[in-house]
Amino acid sequence: MPWTEKHRPKIFDEVKGQSPAVGKVMEFLRNFPSRKKAIILHGPPGTGKTTLAHVAANESGAEIFELNASDFRGKNKLDEVLKPALEQQPLVKKGKIILVDEADGISGFEDRGGISELLRLIELSNYPIIITANDVWQKKLAPLRKKSELVQLKEIDYKTIKSILIGILKKENKFIENDVLTRIAINAKGDLRAAVNDLQTAAGIEKSEISKISFDERNKEIDIFNALRAVFKGNPVNDTLRVFDSVNMPIDEIILWIEENIPLEYKGEELAKAYDLLSRVDIFKGRIYKQQYWRFLVYENILLSYGISASKNPSIISRGNFTSYRKPSRILKIWLNNQRTAKKKSIAMKYAKYVHIGEKRAMAEFPIIRQIIKSNQKIQKELKLDEEEIAYLKKH
Ligand SMILES: Nc1ncnc2c1ncn2[C@@H]1O[C@H](COP(=O)(O)OP(=O)(O)OP(=O)(O)O)[C@@H](O)[C@H]1O
Ligand SMILES: [Mg+2]
Repeated sequence: MPWTEKHRPKIFDEVKGQSPAVGKVMEFLRNFPSRKKAIILHGPPGTGKTTLAHVAANESGAEIFELNASDFRGKNKLDEVLKPALEQQPLVKKGKIILVDEADGISGFEDRGGISELLRLIELSNYPIIITANDVWQKKLAPLRKKSELVQLKEIDYKTIKSILIGILKKENKFIENDVLTRIAINAKGDLRAAVNDLQTAAGIEKSEISKISFDERNKEIDIFNALRAVFKGNPVNDTLRVFDSVNMPIDEIILWIEENIPLEYKGEELAKAYDLLSRVDIFKGRIYKQQYWRFLVYENILLSYGISASKNPSIISRGNFTSYRKPSRILKIWLNNQRTAKKKSIAMKYAKYVHIGEKRAMAEFPIIRQIIKSNQKIQKELKLDEEEIAYLKKH
């Protein structure tokens, strides 16, 4: 079971670093019904929006009725979904709270008008509605903002994150060194879900393994540093074409390194030229992904090596002999993460669509979903999983 689920707060007291938001939600529910029937919890990922909605229901003894973007797709869909829920009186619990999770995913007015369905829901509902969204200021949500109270959740500071991580480790009876904890907390950049996931990963890795990983990383860095030096400082010669061959790194990652370091070496016109080439690399990249023209990989490689090298102004002879290249840390992290989760995501998406749940929920419950699909070829067929996806299921 993912720790993010296992240790999801159940009571207000466990929702950390968000006390103004917690207060506002409590007040909203206490005063209901009042002028506004809906409240929007908005803020960056992993800061407790969905959690706070569930906690609020739990604390007020209400039953939660959850809707997601797909319930707003197409007119009348909503009525179908809501009818049994609104007619049926809950037997045990006092009331209901309607949760519209991840409103960012609802379509705007132009295409089939999911948002107008949501507005209709607010109009008709006798129950308080809690809506969550990452970006509440996008245009399509403007009419929704008028009808709702806005509550912002903030990125959680790293010290608070760290103390939450320590609490979880205690409950799990596990130990992780202090500086690793600090690193995880800082790396998360306010996203508690990311931090808790990293924590679970780190807790499952042997100590010796952690150091091996960083050692591999270091070797890779020496390789890429040398290659960058050859491209940026050396003259473009035929051998330049092969400079990235010995770097043990996927080409997309190499692109990030080049992009990060061009301005450390080139100035003025040469800088513009180099970035122009990079933008062309991006176009090839898009075609490779979309149309599967793998042949274009060759051009990517040529542009990145010889092309970038030949962008420099030949009249500048001295370039200094040492540049300390920068690691494209933030983007790289996102990219690596995406690579790791790409297959998982595509499987989760197919599953989510099939059983009508949100993509994020499918991702969160993936360990269970995987078990269901893994052993059942009929479901695999039904979901139209491709060979790679099936292979992924078997391997993980
Ligand atoms: N303020 C918090 N206090 C304690 N734990 C938290 C908090 N925020 C998030 N978490 C942890 O992170 C996990 C994910 O949080 P949650 O699903 O509420 O994020 P979210 O804001 O809804 O993110 P998203 O925008 O991606 O939907 C929770 O299960 C919990 O373990
Ligand atoms: Mg959420």
